[in-house]
Amino acid sequence: MTQVKARVLSGVQPTGNLHLGNYLGAIRNFVGLQQTHECLYCVVDMHAITVFQDPVELAANTREVAAAFIAAGVDPKNHIVFNQAQVSQHAELAWVLNCVARMGWLNRMTQFKEKAGKDREKASVGLYVYPNLMAADILLYKATHVPVGEDQKQHLELARDIAQKFNNDFNAPEFFPLPEPIIQGPATRVMSLRDGSKKMSKSDPSDLSRITMTDQADDIARKIRKAKTDPDALPETADELPGRPEAANLLGLFAALTDQQLSAVIGQFAGAQFSVLKEQLAEVAVEKIAPIGAEMKRLTDDPATIDAILADGAARARAIAEPIMAEVRQRVGFLGN
Ligand code: AMP
Ligand code: TRP
Repeated sequence: MTQVKARVLSGVQPTGNLHLGNYLGAIRNFVGLQQTHECLYCVVDMHAITVFQDPVELAANTREVAAAFIAAGVDPKNHIVFNQAQVSQHAELAWVLNCVARMGWLNRMTQFKEKAGKDREKASVGLYVYPNLMAADILLYKATHVPVGEDQKQHLELARDIAQKFNNDFNAPEFFPLPEPIIQGPATRVMSLRDGSKKMSKSDPSDLSRITMTDQADDIARKIRKAKTDPDALPETADELPGRPEAANLLGLFAALTDQQLSAVIGQFAGAQFSVLKEQLAEVAVEKIAPIGAEMKRLTDDPATIDAILADGAARARAIAEPIMAEVRQRVGFLGN
């Protein structure tokens, strides 16, 4: 059995409007892990089509997410950046895992319930089995660590259950390692700028709800200025945060963007007006995000180079995946290896 000590895999969907939550909750953490781990970062185009995507936009958004990884500091030479659909073993393992996972497990997934909405009959079957494909993404490489935002915690727990059941069913203890989530930093759940009780999301109809990675400096500043607040001065202690989601969100963003502990930031702004925090937050957000956006634009202006990076990454991903997939086929009892 092939197993490395620590291998990181994570994925981001190319569904447009890549935002500050994606960056602070996930992509930023991808960068640091490169020092200590072998990393694979995947643009999960097959996950994206669980909700219909315009084909031309899907291709452009796939390049944009790859560009965001690289602009943020992921090194596609020493690590692997690729899009999921180029490595067909993802789909192949996902099928096997569809047969390992139980309906009861998937029925508990809150993201499906949120995304399917009221009319569940009309949701794609892909949306329902989405978490099994995500488990396949991770297990196909025997990844041990998965950096994600807080909203993916339940999917990671499911991936662990699937790994465990596969190992049990096929009498292969420790064949798949149980992947550990890495959910870290003061912004693992960035909230909408228009409503502190809703997650910042790519699909929110309000453009003011999110800062995207390609927003210009004046848009970033304007969205922060317009962000929802409450009528009181900023809290003196962390105990006051639970009832004040907008204050918690803006202070958390400031902490994340300035690499400070939330407690230090609360101290810094204790008793101040929201306007003081907003002004400084706009400044650091522009300083951190605008250069990444500019580099993304430079990269996406040259699609051939991004496509070459993705093709190279896919070839290297395949080289890791195929021997593991071959062992899965053999353990399951498929002839032909
Ligand atoms: P997605 O856009 O759903 O493909 O998410 C890509 C990554 O960003 C995942 O690791 C998510 O957990 C993370 N993420 C998405 N939205 C947020 C948010 N509002 N706050 C923090 N992390 C997020
Ligand atoms: N489901 C994740 C999200 O929506 C994206 C994803 C797909 C992923 N496959 C993955 C994340 C594998 C981590 C590992 O954010």
